[in-house]
Amino acid sequence: MADNDRMDKLVSLCKRRGFVFQSSEIYGGIGSVWDYGPLGVELKRNIKDRWWRAMVHARDDIEGIDAGILMHPRVWEASGHVAGFTDPLVDCRTCKARFRADKLLDAQCPQKPSKHPGEHSTCDLTEARQFNLMFRTFMGPMEDTAAVVYLRPETAQGIFVNFLNVLQGSRQKVPFGIAQIGKAFRNEITPGNFIFRTREFEQMEMQFFVRPGTDDEWFERWRALRWQWHLDLGIRPERLRWHQHVHGELAHYAKAAFDVEYEFPFGWNEFEGIHNRTDFDLKRHQEYSGKKLEYFDQEKNERFVPYVIETSIGADRCALVALCDAYDEETVEGETRVLLRFHPQIAPIKAAVLPLVKKDGMPEIAERLYHDLKGRFAAFYDDGGSIGRRYRRQDEAGTPFCFTVDGQTKEDGTVTVRHRDSLQQERLDLSRVPAWLTERVGA
Ligand code: GAP
Repeated sequence: MADNDRMDKLVSLCKRRGFVFQSSEIYGGIGSVWDYGPLGVELKRNIKDRWWRAMVHARDDIEGIDAGILMHPRVWEASGHVAGFTDPLVDCRTCKARFRADKLLDAQCPQKPSKHPGEHSTCDLTEARQFNLMFRTFMGPMEDTAAVVYLRPETAQGIFVNFLNVLQGSRQKVPFGIAQIGKAFRNEITPGNFIFRTREFEQMEMQFFVRPGTDDEWFERWRALRWQWHLDLGIRPERLRWHQHVHGELAHYAKAAFDVEYEFPFGWNEFEGIHNRTDFDLKRHQEYSGKKLEYFDQEKNERFVPYVIETSIGADRCALVALCDAYDEETVEGETRVLLRFHPQIAPIKAAVLPLVKKDGMPEIAERLYHDLKGRFAAFYDDGGSIGRRYRRQDEAGTPFCFTVDGQTKEDGTVTVRHRDSLQQERLDLSRVPAWLTERVGA
């Protein structure tokens, strides 16, 4: 399958099956904002839950927070975003399109035949100028007197400004981390590739505060832990690789940075960054706020500003990785079977319950099983259409297990379990279904 074709099919499946819709579609849509439908919201929530469990619940040395999207405007001066969170922008005077000056080779001029901007004789590009990616808005009722505030372009700053609050309110000692999941906004010049680059998205970020001098070691530890998290999510290792930032690529705050890249149908691209941010952010916030952001090590009787190791991943981009990695087509008995091979723990629906036919007491037993499962798992009941078609619908939704109540159920109290990936079927005692499912998808 050609890769463009694969992406087109995935996008169309996402819309058809209710994973992702274009925002405000009935008004013609709005650029690069997407809405998650019933299946998509479950997928993204499962990814976020897995991240939160691994980063916060499973560890004693990380605390969670949920900071505001709007922050004091000085935060963004201190962080460097007001001065430097910019991309170089060029306009074409002929076709009025806008491009990132440093990504012209990735862009298409709207004129035909298809060429890069600047390559048609009629292209007339302006000089590049810096464009700040932060969304600005006004706090207060009167625009002219109100303060300009920004929609946060990253969640990280909400963590830095709460460093002391969390330290004082918890019993943590350095090294320890603060984790957060939340919305971020960037007025990207060239968003695109579905939910890969959008103007509104969610980040899952963790800043780990360490003693200077131990930062290189912690950086490597976090690299290993995050890599394993992706493998545990079931992502194919051959579609994952590291990209190390070399000198000119490093952000102004970073001493070292590695991206985790995935081979999307549109090429290799990063979806998580691990950064050694040094003491840059805490020191800048000290300077701009006038508040000391130091740690006092009682054992050593020593004060210092911690270094920060950051792990930062987009929940939407991670959902796209999960979708691209799970999408598969195969021929079964002469027909194409489209399926999403999600890891059972992130599958939007864990179990479908299906009576083989709508008679002979089968729906009653199936409904009982469904209600029994529903309180504990995302389950789905379907009695419409042939059993083959119902299985196919669940394959497209990525449901790992279907439980079918058939003629034998009434006789011996067993149901058929049909496995999405292998298509194998086995029989299971009705009473064992919840425990069997718990073993495979978690509670
Ligand atoms: N605090 C560091 C930081 O924000 P980043 O590399 O700019 O670093 C981290 O962003 C992650 O956020 C990216 O790896 C990506 O997954 C996600 N992300 C960034 N911009 C995005 C966008 N426009 N749309 C969707 N996800 C985005």
